[in-house]
Amino acid sequence: MPNEKRPKVGAPAAVEHDAAAVEHDAAAVIEHDAAASVADEAAALAEIHVENDQDKAPVAEGAPLDPGDRRVGIGVDVGGSGIKAAAVDLDTGELIGLRHRVPTPQPSTPAAVVASIARMVKKIVSEVTLGPDALVGVGFPAVVIDGVTRSAANVDPGWLGFDADRAMERVLKRPVHIVNDADAAGVAEMRFGAGIGERGTVFLITLGTGTGSALFYNGMLVPNLELGHMEIRGRDAERRSAAAARIRRGISWKAWATDLDEHLLAIEKLFSPRLFIIGGGVSKRADLYVPKLTVRARVVPAKLRNDAGIVGAAMAAAEQEAAAH
Ligand code: BGC
Repeated sequence: MPNEKRPKVGAPAAVEHDAAAVEHDAAAVIEHDAAASVADEAAALAEIHVENDQDKAPVAEGAPLDPGDRRVGIGVDVGGSGIKAAAVDLDTGELIGLRHRVPTPQPSTPAAVVASIARMVKKIVSEVTLGPDALVGVGFPAVVIDGVTRSAANVDPGWLGFDADRAMERVLKRPVHIVNDADAAGVAEMRFGAGIGERGTVFLITLGTGTGSALFYNGMLVPNLELGHMEIRGRDAERRSAAAARIRRGISWKAWATDLDEHLLAIEKLFSPRLFIIGGGVSKRADLYVPKLTVRARVVPAKLRNDAGIVGAAMAAAEQEAAAH
């Protein structure tokens, strides 16, 4: 083979690889710096007195609850309209002490949301005796990769490429892990709720401001599935199947059930699951729409109801922390 026709080996590929690595590292440095400045802004915001943050939980009285030797984490579930949080027994999935809920700040910038989370965590820590290592898990409505949020469908665009773990650890001064909200709810349902012992392909579909999806095969999670954004009738499916879509469009439960059914049928066609577990606030109204669904798979409401996101966020964080050490 003449020299000039020989495939080029070594250097060019290595140079390209190095250039890509340098670019990747530079992007990571920018994300880290941005996270630090958002964290400082959030820390300052968290100090500002907000009149009870419109938290519906009663003010706790008496000495803080002592969970004894139970393994406890704090679970936070960030949604489009509310942020919910509580201390969670990691081995039983039970909430310990009060369940807090505050409205999601609008706009839902990283600094404002992190400040709300910081105030909630502060309250929880004053109500339940927790060590400095007790970790915080945050379920968030976005693709999450290595603690960085990589999408922002129903939240402020500031979350795109936001190093949330780093920022929150800086503010909360304890280990923090952020995960997709549907993945968190799914993990809790598979361990403590409607998915216990369920093998094969199982979906947790969470219906709120958006439609979240978590896929499990023999109990193992495939993260960041985002089937709320699959296209149906030329649009994101969640525009019709999310719980908020029923309210926004002012349609009946029956009409909404037809739209939800269309979404579930499209998922069924692609994945052939055995079971759909329906989570989110509407899981407690399952009787109004589940009987109208025509999918072949079984459909059941989440057993942990609206707490699945809180419980699963704490559990997922504990699992990530254990895997990191
Ligand atoms: C987001 C998902 C989230 C779902 C439910 C969607 O809009 O893209 O990440 O799981 O809403 O909150």
